[in-house]
Amino acid sequence: MSAEQRAVSPDLVIRPLGPQDEDSVRALHEHLTQRDTYLRFFTVAPRRVDELAEMLCRQDDRHVSLGAFDDAAVVAVANYTVLDDDVASAECAVAVSHPMQHHGIGTALLQRLVDIARARGIRRLSAYVLSVNTTMLQVLGELGWVRNGSEPGSVVQVDIAPADPLGNGGSRVAVDSSLRVPPDRPEGGPSGTSANGPSVVGP
Ligand SMILES: CC(C)(COP(=O)(O)OP(=O)(O)OC[C@H]1O[C@@H](n2cnc3c(N)ncnc32)[C@H](O)[C@@H]1OP(=O)(O)O)[C@@H](O)C(=O)NCCC(=O)NCCS
Repeated sequence: MSAEQRAVSPDLVIRPLGPQDEDSVRALHEHLTQRDTYLRFFTVAPRRVDELAEMLCRQDDRHVSLGAFDDAAVVAVANYTVLDDDVASAECAVAVSHPMQHHGIGTALLQRLVDIARARGIRRLSAYVLSVNTTMLQVLGELGWVRNGSEPGSVVQVDIAPADPLGNGGSRVAVDSSLRVPPDRPEGGPSGTSANGPSVVGP
């Protein structure tokens, strides 16, 4: 098995997404539960899932996406998008189909994403997470991502510094603690990974 393919369980494989996976990636997002959709996109009705699937299945200097596969079906995706105004920083997001949650898939995808980010010289990887999303915050926390939770807010920025050799999976950095959804993101989804496509704001 190559470095790009890591078994999470005997039946699951993690590998980069490609154009051939677009239908399956679209189906994954169309079948997320309403709550999971809200946690991922900050809205229960994300638009332009087609564009999202196309973006997730495109690999280039700015877009890295991994899928977890159960046979041919994509059961989870994790991706990051490099920021327009800071090529050493990227924003990431994850979605795991509901029946497959709590089996270590999200953790495995994030670990692999950080490995790739490190290899590509990304110095800050960020996730914007709703403060009610305790599962995601817990998963990131266990992986060494850090939030500055000093102020309450609806959205929390959680970061890791993959390229720093210190630490397990990257050194811990805390920035911009607690954020409100910026007004230029009407659906509130994380930039670069929202259903609106790869618009990027600082992650
Ligand atoms: C948040 C999310 C990505 C986490 O993915 P996941 O695959 O369920 O995460 P994991 O299984 O790695 O970890 C979740 C929990 O399962 C536990 N777990 C990990 N491996 C496990 C296993 N083999 N058996 C049982 N539990 C396990 C972890 O300890 C973790 O527990 P915790 O919440 O108490 O820390 C997923 O719940 C999801 O897609 N949510 C909806 C969308 C979303 O919130 N996206 C993030 C927006 S940026």
